[in-house]
Amino acid sequence: MSIVKINVLNVPAEQREVLEKRFASRAGTVENSDGFEWFELLRPVEGTDDYLVYTRWRDEAAFQAWMEGPMKAAHQGGGDRPKPAATGNQVWSFEVVQQASPKQA
Ligand code: HEM
Repeated sequence: MSIVKINVLNVPAEQREVLEKRFASRAGTVENSDGFEWFELLRPVEGTDDYLVYTRWRDEAAFQAWMEGPMKAAHQGGGDRPKPAATGNQVWSFEVVQQASPKQA
C-alpha cells in the first residue's frame, strides 16, 4: 500500500497567515508527479501549534523522485522571499496499513 510523508512546520502564531498565503499560491506542480496520491495542508486547532503538510505516495521511490527534482522548484517561491514563515520543520514517515472510504451508493 501507499506511504505517507508529513512535513511538520513550526509556525509562530503571527506567521500563520503568511504561511497559509504561501500555500494558497503554491506551485501546484506536485499534482503532476508520478506516484503522487494526496496532499493536504492541515491547520492546527487543538493539541498542537504545528501545521502538517500531509502527502501520500504510491511508494518511497516516488516520494524520493519528487524530493530530488520537482520539490526544489516548488519550494523556491517567487522573487524576493521574506524570511520563512516556519521556524523549524521535521518529516514524519508512515506506511499505510489499512484504509477505507465511504461505500458507493
Ligand atoms: C525546509 C522544510 C520545508 C519548509 C519550511 C516548507 C514550507 C513550504 C511552503 C511555505 C510551501 C508553499 C510554497 C512556497 O512558498 O514555497 C511549501 C510547499 C509544499 N511543500 Fe514544503 N516545506 C518544507 C519541506 C517539505 C517537505 C520535506 C515536504 C514533503 C512532505 C513538503 C511538502 C510540500 C508540498 C507537497 C508543497 C506544495 C508543492 C506544490 O504545490 O507543487 N515540504 N512548503
